[in-house]
Amino acid sequence: MRERDVIIACDFASTEQLYAFLGKMEGEKPYLKIGMELFYAAGPTIVRDLKAKGYRIFLDLKLHDIPNTVKKAMSVLSRLDVDMINVHASGTRPMMEAAKEGLTRADGTRPLLLAVTQLTSTDQQRMNEDLLIGGTVEDCVMHYAKNAQAAGVDGVVCSPLEVRQVKNICGDRFLCVTPGIRFADAKKDDQSRITTPAMARELGSDYIVVGRPITAADDPLAAYRRCKEEFAGNR
Ligand code: C5P
Repeated sequence: MRERDVIIACDFASTEQLYAFLGKMEGEKPYLKIGMELFYAAGPTIVRDLKAKGYRIFLDLKLHDIPNTVKKAMSVLSRLDVDMINVHASGTRPMMEAAKEGLTRADGTRPLLLAVTQLTSTDQQRMNEDLLIGGTVEDCVMHYAKNAQAAGVDGVVCSPLEVRQVKNICGDRFLCVTPGIRFADAKKDDQSRITTPAMARELGSDYIVVGRPITAADDPLAAYRRCKEEFAGNR
């Protein structure tokens, strides 16, 4: 059976804040996303500590540089033994291939490698005018997904609303990890193209990334459990 899970975006500024949050998650061992903020504040030690405690980690550093630099950075990060890691698809196919090469350990194992397509903060006008990429955001996401797959990447980070089309083009086994999740009765914050956990499941997301609806909830444990239930199709 394919794994589907809720990944909590741990957008905290310090180790103390992270552990204060995890202290509220009694009886649960959630999949955690560590991004730039916490990684730059706490360093690789936080990742090693969490792995030692048995947490699964998505290290969301979105690498984007020349292929040689990305390959070497990935080979260092691979030693942290995270479960999932990512690059920007816009770094080009050779960069994604180099990332995968650097990530692969001597015994052939490696974390899952994802490519970020277009950030959900980039709208069509910014993409057309600032990045000088023509067409719609959706066209670009599908093109990047195909390119990522050709480079041997395992899947993409995209909006739940793009999952069906990505899977149509790249096949069902190509992973879709989707942020932009909100409960039906909650506020949107700065996210625009959002779905509920249940809708993300229906649309075929493999993993949903959920931050503030859990981390900023009055009862984070209840919010996490609700998210898992809805994404599992139990509600
Ligand atoms: O708090 P919220 O649920 O909006 O958090 C979503 C997480 O997913 C954040 O860590 C954000 O950086 C990340 N993300 C996103 N959109 C993308 C890629 C990553 O919201 N396209």
